Amino acid sequence: SLPVPNVQSLAASKEFTEIPGRYVRPEINDSPVLDSVAKHGDIPIIDLSRLDHLQHSNDEILKLSLACEDWGFFQVINHGVPDEVMEKVKVVIKEFFQLPLEEKKAYKQLPGTVEGYGQVFVVSEEQKLDWGDMYFLSTEPVSGRNLKLWATNPPTFKDALEQYTQEIRRVANILLESIEKSLKLDKFFSMFESGVQSVRINYYPPCPQASKVLGLSPHSDAVGLTVLLQVNEAQGLQIKKNGAWLPIKPLPGAFIVNIGDIIEIMSNGKYKSIEHRAIVNTDRERMSIATFHSPRADAQVGPLPAAVEKNKPHYKTISFQDYVRMLFSFKLEGKNILDHMKL
Ligand code: SIN
Ligand code: FE2
Repeated sequence: SLPVPNVQSLAASKEFTEIPGRYVRPEINDSPVLDSVAKHGDIPIIDLSRLDHLQHSNDEILKLSLACEDWGFFQVINHGVPDEVMEKVKVVIKEFFQLPLEEKKAYKQLPGTVEGYGQVFVVSEEQKLDWGDMYFLSTEPVSGRNLKLWATNPPTFKDALEQYTQEIRRVANILLESIEKSLKLDKFFSMFESGVQSVRINYYPPCPQASKVLGLSPHSDAVGLTVLLQVNEAQGLQIKKNGAWLPIKPLPGAFIVNIGDIIEIMSNGKYKSIEHRAIVNTDRERMSIATFHSPRADAQVGPLPAAVEKNKPHYKTISFQDYVRMLFSFKLEGKNILDHMKL
């Protein structure tokens, strides 16, 4: 991929009166943005303590299954992740992005890889650019960590991220087990046990012409399940609902969770991996941390037999390793993996 300017420094430089053309995204207004959730409803709220509680789990699993079918997105409350774990990870993320560019560059992505500090894939001079930087790290399996890319400043960065992602693993496991129950798919959860976990920390600087740029282009997540935490108060996430963009406003302390392409495929299309994007603000920066969960490296990606039953499979079946290889090459070519997996 080609080198791309660091957006945080670009935004801070104030050298421009007009934002550079490669960041201008006229397609932003192709679909309407819903300005009030009153008419359209809001994403469902799932109470994790009820999912994890024998007496209430059936009701909550039903709610979860409707959320995954109708929305592909939901908020998770009563998740039991200690406040201090959430606070600590927020603090180290804020401190990391405040470091001088030169220091952050010590963790920069190597050419052709996603891991480290940098930007999403850019493959041509014409490609439009997102108004944001990111810091991507692989967290599980632990043997797959590239510790050279883990920040040593702030000194508590590694501990804070480790504690946070361990808590998120617990949350994800409860959700994945409940999804298995809701779909009546045995062998679903076991594919995610000792599976792959990674984080993408997003930094969206303010933009004087925020309504012309996108912090993150529309995409669906190519993973199994994503758990998103908004790091500061600034809003920006929008999800596609009935052809329009619906802004998402997280409840204080809640996670935003979404079904990724792999669960859509495994459920043979019953659960939906929904397109979403991030917009930016004129007056303040925004940060978020997305934690992704995918199957074990030896798993198959395809509709599970119990999900197909009397229907036809709607997706191909390939090995997880081929899926990852394809994902990587498709990103370079700007292609969508979910479309390619559809039969
Ligand atoms: C993401 O799609 O991973 C990030 C969305 C956000 O920053 O809210
Ligand atoms: Fe995403």
